[in-house]
Amino acid sequence: MSKILYPLQEKYLSSFCEEHDKLMKSMQDFALVNNVPILNKHAAQFIEQLILIKRPKRVLELGTAIAYTAIRIARLLNNNSLIDTIEKSKDNVKIAGRYISNSGVASKINLLFGEAGDLLTGLNYKYDIIFLDADKEDYSNLFSLSLPLLRKNGIYIIDNLLWQGYAAASRVPKKFKSSTKHIREFNKIFTTTESLQTAIYPIGDGLGIGIKE
Ligand SMILES: C[S@@+](CC[C@H](N)C(=O)[O-])C[C@H]1O[C@@H](n2cnc3c(N)ncnc32)[C@H](O)[C@@H]1O
Repeated sequence: MSKILYPLQEKYLSSFCEEHDKLMKSMQDFALVNNVPILNKHAAQFIEQLILIKRPKRVLELGTAIAYTAIRIARLLNNNSLIDTIEKSKDNVKIAGRYISNSGVASKINLLFGEAGDLLTGLNYKYDIIFLDADKEDYSNLFSLSLPLLRKNGIYIIDNLLWQGYAAASRVPKKFKSSTKHIREFNKIFTTTESLQTAIYPIGDGLGIGIKE
């Protein structure tokens, strides 16, 4: 359940986005049962709209998990476009690889195994869209390493900037204290980045959007 929207609003909005796609439904079910965090469906819809507006040639995702969003994005890419997606967990890479093979869009997904901070320094491409969805304590570092790879007029997207409501809460459970501190610090960095026109939207778990000037 959303910790950002009122339950009634969440239920109402969800009534418009029931999942009918078999693969996506099975990935959502897998993520739920196995406790794998994947993108909220409203946030996924919003990103899909950005993909359709921007028509990117090359997309970079930091944090693949089981490739739920990577596949959703790849399905909307033109034939000569590609998404590079980086994942550090061996287990997740294996599962992501299986889902990608069955997705029908495997040729548009380049799955990279490793720590994003290490792999980013070796990437020589320029991206039209970058999506950051990794561990919260890595956000500042991955953001600063990847921002130079974003083209002018490119879109930087970041998930979890409201962090289950804790970013704005006065009381934060012990378990979330450290991650909340990282998100709060990161939000200051993100919204004051001079090369980006930024906003944070209450979609999903809080979606940050920055357009490179
Ligand atoms: C929230 S999940 C990603 C969900 C995915 N973007 C989606 O919407 O389907 C975060 C994933 O990022 C991976 N991850 C976290 N920090 C990372 C890092 N520094 N480098 C590479 N992968 C990382 C985690 O192992 C986890 O699978």
